[in-house]
Amino acid sequence: MQEFKNKTVFITGAAKGQGRGVALAFAKEGANIIAFDLGEKLCYPAYNRSCSGDLCTLKEDVEALGAQIEIFAGDVRHADDIMAAVDAGIKRFGTIDVLFNNAGICAYGLSWELSEDEWDTMMDINLKGTWLVSKYVVPHMIEQKSGVIINNSSIGGLRGMNRLSHYAASKFGMIGLTKSQAIELAPYGIRSVSIPPTGVDTPMNDGLAEMEGATAIEIATRSAGNLIPVPWIEVEDVANSVLFLASDKARFITGSQFVLDAGLLTR
Ligand SMILES: NC(=O)c1ccc[n+]([C@@H]2O[C@H](COP(=O)([O-])OP(=O)(O)OC[C@H]3O[C@@H](n4cnc5c(N)ncnc54)[C@H](O)[C@@H]3O)[C@@H](O)[C@H]2O)c1
Repeated sequence: MQEFKNKTVFITGAAKGQGRGVALAFAKEGANIIAFDLGEKLCYPAYNRSCSGDLCTLKEDVEALGAQIEIFAGDVRHADDIMAAVDAGIKRFGTIDVLFNNAGICAYGLSWELSEDEWDTMMDINLKGTWLVSKYVVPHMIEQKSGVIINNSSIGGLRGMNRLSHYAASKFGMIGLTKSQAIELAPYGIRSVSIPPTGVDTPMNDGLAEMEGATAIEIATRSAGNLIPVPWIEVEDVANSVLFLASDKARFITGSQFVLDAGLLTR
């Protein structure tokens, strides 16, 4: 039996990496997908070369699994883009049962050398974007009296990170937002959980490594420190956890961090 048949999942940053993996995993379980991602590349960080073709490929792959999907090219920093996607998604599918706030960027830079633009872009996409998408999805969940929000934070949301101060600050912020959402939304039957993963094998890490003149595996091996000796975890590991957290099996999990760190933070 497909666990998410007739449920609708809104996924930001759905075109690539973890978002794409999570979209395909929900599609296999029969969910309707609302996939939101940039239709054009970002100026910062330079590794992000998004284009609308990535969303079209996802659409084909989801439909090949027999699931339904709406795709939207938009930016999590722009309320108009989000409202258009939420409205069209609700019109087609009727509900939004799960929100996976996943769109995000990462970039290196010493804290005192970052420009204000770099700081603001990191905060606006990773933290404000998570809040802004939630702001427009939550009223529908309140009306339904049900829903699950899963915010993709990072181990950088639970510890300091060298040359990633703006990234870590944005990810700590996401955990504070998650906990506050959990308090506000519990009376409406809505849960909010964050998943802080260790390094995941995605285009983000390929792009960051390219900018450092290295390969992703070199960087991951140098910096991972996972207790379980792997350089990184896979998109499927994230997808399995998101499916669990979105399901009734996790019905009493809210406000907390579901840490996917291969033991890294135990060190
Ligand atoms: N890859 C890792 O090692 C790792 C580890 C921990 C947490 N994370 C977090 O997981 C999330 C997903 O990362 P990933 O590894 O899949 O990265 P990725 O770069 O492979 O994919 C991220 C997706 O988000 C989209 N996106 C970026 N900015 C956007 C915006 N303003 N509006 C809409 N979409 C936007 C991108 O176009 C891209 O498709 C991010 O929030 C990231 O910080 C990643």
